Amino acid sequence: ETPFIHRFEPATGAGSPPLLLLHGTGGDENDLLGLGKMISPGSALLSPRGRVLEHGMPRFFRRLAEGVFDEEDVRRRALELGDFVSEARKQYGIAAPLAVGFSNGANIAAALLLLKPDVLAGAILLRAMVPLSDPPEAQLGGTPVLLLSGQGDPIVPASNSARLAALLTKAGASVTHKVLPAGHQLSQADVTLARDWIGNIA
Ligand code: MLT
Repeated sequence: ETPFIHRFEPATGAGSPPLLLLHGTGGDENDLLGLGKMISPGSALLSPRGRVLEHGMPRFFRRLAEGVFDEEDVRRRALELGDFVSEARKQYGIAAPLAVGFSNGANIAAALLLLKPDVLAGAILLRAMVPLSDPPEAQLGGTPVLLLSGQGDPIVPASNSARLAALLTKAGASVTHKVLPAGHQLSQADVTLARDWIGNIA
């Protein structure tokens, strides 16, 4: 039994990595299923709903204000999500997943990479920011990470996403960082770049 409400869709094709889909603030476990299918047709999809509620909107950790995180909660919730992934892997018989996170979901995925480097096979971080001001010295050993930022993102300053890219690179991840002509919302370019990137690492 797992503590997360979630959706699971088994793989429909061989050889595609399972995806861990992590929605943004106010989303739920259904939000990113379509995106997952577009960027990696055939992949198993594991999609939990964030357990923190902010005025009724599901999230993956608490924040004090927009872009200001309750870091103790970030740590606790990232570990909890890591445990969920381990349980789900046993339950559904899947390999370590590639996280696909948007906004708050990308931020918890970044925290998970830094706090529990073995949980994820890689990550696509859509509009992510630095999740922890003082992260542990993680050993990511070449874990592939695609970070897609929006040039005009009002929530994530360019300096912040650059810092996240540097932090993950220093921790040993193999980071591709692209800044798109977009805001905080996703664009068609995100879908195309994510699909091509998965095709190259898989
Ligand atoms: C967060 O709280 O994780 C970020 O501010 C992104 C968001 O969810 O708006």
